Amino acid sequence: MSELDRKRDRTPAPQDWTYAPAPESRDVVSIAEQYGHFVGGEWLEPAETYETISPSSEEPLARVGQGMQQDVDRAVGAARGAFADGWSSLPGSERAKYLFRIARLLQERAREFAVLESLNGGKPIKESRDVDLPLAAAHFFYYAGWADKLEYAFPNRRPRAVGVAGQIIPWNFPLLMLSWKIAPALACGNTVVLKPAETTPLTALLFCDVLRQAELPPGVVNIVTGDGRTGAAIVEHPDVDKIAFTGSTEVGKAIQRQLAGTGKKLTLELGGKAANIVFDDCALDQAVEGIVNGIYFNQGHVCCAGSRLFVQESIAEPLIEKLKRRLTTLRVGDPLDKNTDVGAINSAMQLDKIKELVAAGVEEGAEIYQPPCTLPEKGYWFAPTVFTNVAQSYRIAQEEIFGPVLSVLTFRTPEEAVEKANNTPYGLSAGVWTEKGSRILWMAQRLRAGVVWANTFNRFDPSSPFGGYKESGFGREGGRHGLEPYLRFDE
Ligand code: NAI
Ligand code: MG
Repeated sequence: MSELDRKRDRTPAPQDWTYAPAPESRDVVSIAEQYGHFVGGEWLEPAETYETISPSSEEPLARVGQGMQQDVDRAVGAARGAFADGWSSLPGSERAKYLFRIARLLQERAREFAVLESLNGGKPIKESRDVDLPLAAAHFFYYAGWADKLEYAFPNRRPRAVGVAGQIIPWNFPLLMLSWKIAPALACGNTVVLKPAETTPLTALLFCDVLRQAELPPGVVNIVTGDGRTGAAIVEHPDVDKIAFTGSTEVGKAIQRQLAGTGKKLTLELGGKAANIVFDDCALDQAVEGIVNGIYFNQGHVCCAGSRLFVQESIAEPLIEKLKRRLTTLRVGDPLDKNTDVGAINSAMQLDKIKELVAAGVEEGAEIYQPPCTLPEKGYWFAPTVFTNVAQSYRIAQEEIFGPVLSVLTFRTPEEAVEKANNTPYGLSAGVWTEKGSRILWMAQRLRAGVVWANTFNRFDPSSPFGGYKESGFGREGGRHGLEPYLRFDE
């Protein structure tokens, strides 16, 4: 037996460690049997409803409204009324007070929101508790600070509110995406009609109670639930001045076509196929943690997920081995268990898409690895997956999978890494792992991606602008840049 093998024998992969369950209580949140649309500060009775479920158990949680044209009309009318009736002319320092209140209320009620987010969306409670909720509150705090400083942010340009903003968000970070959309819009004096994704409406509906507590004037924020038809009605509405959309590239393109020539402002935050690039001089164990966080965080339902791993050839073997060993320690299961690392896939539809692309990877000749893990019987689940032997032409290297699936490719030189990383229609994010600062800067200048993380991945901060190149969309959210889409200027 070689020295290396013996050493390995003595440190077995901890596959059979068992944890006692550590469930977060779902009693901290009360869910109504049915919700309407939140319009003009009141609940509108929905004409049609559908059931929203928990993807981890398929258990029905509530019935929510399928927004129709007339619901969107009323919501836009309420938003227009509130805009004209004082909100847009309120001093920035007064608008800021509401945003600060909302931020504080989100902090106070964080546990309730985190549990609801995990129940309705399937993400692990440790993520909704430690990432989604703190960041959502941070966004409101951050944009509260800008509300009375717009003249300083854009000197000599007379910044003014745009009007009514129509905002359509996806299901991967329901409350966080709501915050990214609503906070800058209100800071700039706009009013809002927002539609959450059809599978994850519940935290947006609970947020209406925060608006009531904050005593936000009626009509400033209106929430209409429903599917793509409701979204399309918002996009098409003639009295909406600006559309902010986060979701698939396919729908984003359709919206851009629809709005061409209308004069409506538009920002699109779409898909991604990020390159996470690991050089041979990196801190290997930290890189492995970063790779895991990059692709298995939120089940890989992340537009900026590090779904393409580029490893320098000389370290490919030890790195992949470490990565596989690390995967065996990931706990897949009940999103409300505090020990869970990977929760449920958000919907049956998304699970089908992941399965289809993974089958294509196997078919095209990539080598698949999944750690041994038992998936729950009910609900939608997919084991963390790594593909090696991946060619750039494979679908798993080209298309957004939006699931816990990593494709590993290799490179030899920095030039080759850049070329391969940029060989994608997307350009939302990238990661670089190296000890050399000069190489980080050299890479960051050449990578066609809105965000480049250095020796970390999936880090977010409200002061840092986020957005895409190419088919990942246009416009920036976060930071001072994130104010611009919600303002008109004299020029
Ligand atoms: P989607 O783009 O259909 O849904 C996103 C939002 O747009 C939802 O609120 C939906 O109701 C709304 N919507 C759908 N059709 C619309 C239309 N014609 N007009 C206006 N709004 C419309 O995304 P979907 O079908 O949930 O997921 C498909 C794929 O898209 C995923 O597998 C993933 O690859 C990608 N995606 C990317 C996201 C990102 O954060 N960039 C978020 C969600 C999905
Ligand atoms: Mg869709």
